[in-house]
Amino acid sequence: MDLTFAKRLITTSIGRKAVMAVSGLLLGGFMLVHLAENLLLFKGETAYNGWVDLLLSNPVTIYLELGLLVIFVAHIITGVWVRIEDFLNAPRGYEARRWQGGRTIGSATMLYTAAAILFYLAYHLLTFRFVDHSMGFYQMVTSAFRSPVFVGIYVAGAAALALHLSHGMQSAFQTLGLSHPKYTPLIKAGGMAVAVLMVGFALISLYFLADMDMKAAETGYQVVVIR
Ligand code: HEM
Repeated sequence: MDLTFAKRLITTSIGRKAVMAVSGLLLGGFMLVHLAENLLLFKGETAYNGWVDLLLSNPVTIYLELGLLVIFVAHIITGVWVRIEDFLNAPRGYEARRWQGGRTIGSATMLYTAAAILFYLAYHLLTFRFVDHSMGFYQMVTSAFRSPVFVGIYVAGAAALALHLSHGMQSAFQTLGLSHPKYTPLIKAGGMAVAVLMVGFALISLYFLADMDMKAAETGYQVVVIR
């Protein structure tokens, strides 16, 4: 890679914004793929376990995971950096005018939703990724979703993700200069659609919680989950 170009990505404000935008779009893409993967839960145990086992046993996966980690770290670092810069360069009284001039809930809460997603992701990886998988992924996921507290965290995490992307996706395209009177409404609608799709993560967890409740009502058994 051209070293001057790489240097400019870090040392200039526009470069940092571009890194934030590209990494954000890549993370959005990962979220769509991950959502599709998890829809396999509805196809049943064999389909879900088959896919996740295949994924994790593939030697290429570790490099994809490392790539994802680099993208994630780059997004956090540039995000915080750009935020601090914007704050320091903002005209006086900016905070009081934050809600004027087209601000949305999504744009005004980016920092809070980012923190919530970080917490949620750490919790998610500690409970699903870096644990013993001998019981099988399907069993692990569906038994975790028997806990209302666990599902509550998933619903809150998915809501934070949806809110974050409702601003993040279109803002990324704008930063990269991909705005055009004809295509901007389409880009905005596409970004919003990706954001709304994130609610799917909450719906999956709620489905398995409700499924367990229905099975318990049918059989008369009470399932007690201690977590
Ligand atoms: C219904 C909700 C979800 C379920 C059932 C689920 C399930 C899983 C499972 C079983 C794994 C480990 C196996 C694998 O790597 O594929 C995993 C990994 C992962 N999940 Fe999720 N996930 C959900 C939502 C999310 C959300 C909302 C995020 C992001 C905020 C996320 C981010 C990740 C990441 C970064 C990994 C590690 C990727 C990897 O190691 O390949 N997941 N998830």
